[in-house]
Amino acid sequence: GITRKMSFGINSKFNGIESKTPFLIGVSGGTASGKSTVCKRIMEKLGQVDMDHQQRRVVCISQDSFYRNLTPTEKLKAEKGQYNFDHPDAFDDDLILQTLQDILAGVKCEIPAYDYRTNSLMKDQVTTIYPADVVLFEGILVFYFPKIRDLFHMKLFVDTDSDTRLARRVPRDIKERGRDLDYVLNQYMNFVKPAFEEFCLPTKKFADVIIPRGADNTVAIDLIVHHIWDILRLKKAENSTGQHPFFYQHRRT
Ligand code: CTP
Repeated sequence: GITRKMSFGINSKFNGIESKTPFLIGVSGGTASGKSTVCKRIMEKLGQVDMDHQQRRVVCISQDSFYRNLTPTEKLKAEKGQYNFDHPDAFDDDLILQTLQDILAGVKCEIPAYDYRTNSLMKDQVTTIYPADVVLFEGILVFYFPKIRDLFHMKLFVDTDSDTRLARRVPRDIKERGRDLDYVLNQYMNFVKPAFEEFCLPTKKFADVIIPRGADNTVAIDLIVHHIWDILRLKKAENSTGQHPFFYQHRRT
């Protein structure tokens, strides 16, 4: 009971203010595997997307918001497709850790959006993460850093075939990320594919649930959503009775 209460499920005190400790879900998988869509579906099924931002019980953050600022030299490299955005060093893992710890402590956080056209963060486009019941954190390397990996209450890996992912990535990068075909294919062969095999794929073994075919897999998404609902229900029961939910259930039967 104690472990459960410490990891999530009760109000925690921060600066004297009662705050919520969210259920934190990590979602990983290769580029264009459908991580964002899986997160979107989970949010939709939990029925929260249309709710007011401050009342929303489910929020989603992308690892892209934690790319390091590029030096002028790195910026030039990136423009020529010679910068490795798929290497763990490209991310500010200290900032990710700090942010997730704040989120778990129920502290309000501000997360900038990322602009793939300029390879930089958009400081003026900030999403405020209010204390939530469920927080999804998605990205290619969210299970790579051990300290970050250990913070998740649930780990999902979206497992989509490499050819399917490449077939999605090429038009997406050309249409949405302002790149040309040569750039996309060179970047894929030089950095994206080798880094996937070296850093992302080996983290699949840390996942609690592997989702084949990504967002098309409605059965897997339904199962996950039902599990999240169960957890939220237990959490609510625990909060309202001040007692451990299993004890509560036991007493009622
Ligand atoms: N990337 C890039 N240029 C940048 C920053 C990142 O091309 N300036 C690429 C990296 O090469 C990396 C990819 O962005 O492979 C990470 O985003 P991805 O996982 O493909 O996008 P999501 O929308 O988060 O994931 P999904 O398609 O699975 O929903």
